[in-house]
Amino acid sequence: MKWFLGMATVLGLAAIVLGPRGQIWGQTSRVEDKSLRAAAGKRVQIGVAVNTGLLGDATYTGLIKREFGSVTAENCMKPASILKAPGEYDFAETDRFIEFAERNGIEVIGHTLVWHSQSPSFLFASADGKPLPRDEALRNMREYITKVVGRYRGRINGWDVVNEAVADGGGLRQTPALRAIGEDYLLKAFQYAAEADPKAELYYNDYNIELDYKRASGLELVRKLREAGARIDAVGIQGHYLLTSDMAEIQRGVKAYTDAGFKVMITELDVDVLPRAGQGGADVSALERTGMNPYVEGLPNDKQAELAAKYGQLFDFFLAQPNLTRITFWGATDAHTWLNGFPVRGRTNHPLLFDRKYQPKPAYDRVWQSLTRASG
Ligand code: XIL
Repeated sequence: MKWFLGMATVLGLAAIVLGPRGQIWGQTSRVEDKSLRAAAGKRVQIGVAVNTGLLGDATYTGLIKREFGSVTAENCMKPASILKAPGEYDFAETDRFIEFAERNGIEVIGHTLVWHSQSPSFLFASADGKPLPRDEALRNMREYITKVVGRYRGRINGWDVVNEAVADGGGLRQTPALRAIGEDYLLKAFQYAAEADPKAELYYNDYNIELDYKRASGLELVRKLREAGARIDAVGIQGHYLLTSDMAEIQRGVKAYTDAGFKVMITELDVDVLPRAGQGGADVSALERTGMNPYVEGLPNDKQAELAAKYGQLFDFFLAQPNLTRITFWGATDAHTWLNGFPVRGRTNHPLLFDRKYQPKPAYDRVWQSLTRASG
């Protein structure tokens, strides 16, 4: 026993000395033990949106396997990627993605079934743009959901059934599905999904529904759906934040949903570090001249610290909410974040925990600490 403990200490010290990140972790755990997934333990699931174009990149997949417990496809499971023409489904990319996850013991989140964006127009409108008759649109939606959810029945942990149905100005967003079917398109979508895979969790997913300007509409929608009999297993709050996002407002908002009896998941977390005012224009040099693209050479130390502090506040709060059960980052590294192209194209953004060389940033360590404390 004594020699065993001695060996363990030596191995532990070796792990500290040999740590590839050149940092001392304050504990004699094995190198591979430092990951978000391990730090989260059973307290919360840490997920990531995956760019399936990178599944052949071993550094990328290595990072995903090490750090995350669930994956969401960043694009390949959206209706426009799967349904190429009426009745013509293409599951190749999604099959590869799900097989990757299964091979590596990672759970899969389906994103998304009904959305006004990245979806073929023929589902809900005729060629001249007019809404289809209700019956036809319902039939199309049912067929799509049944086919896709049915194909992966038992292999998907949960589905974002409807994405972004709340309008920024309040009430329901005017979408092709709403125009063709009417307000109950949401309820129907939840029913069809539940029928196609009774064991998969079902989520309503949206952005900014925790913020003051959209909260009442978001809450009203999910409450009404629940009253009408929809099985909403969780409300997905996307969590596309800014360095300047107001923590108190986010806290009020998340609590409003958990207080209403909903489980909450943060489904698309990132923290935009670039200026938002005066957007528009894709001329990169013009962006640089106007200061809209200030961190092309890298994120300066003071901003790294600010980002780490913001992530720390977010995680400390999220993890203090017992009914908040998953936090998914919208991308793995700054090299691939959608925020390099949104809302202004051609910028250099730094919103995630890993930099362009796939190395953990100070924000990573801050999140890791928060997870370790919460799962301890
Ligand atoms: C984004 C992807 O990240 C981009 O690659 C794509 O070009 C557009 O869509 N809310 C959502 C996600 O629900 O599906 C969006 O993903 C980001 C905003």
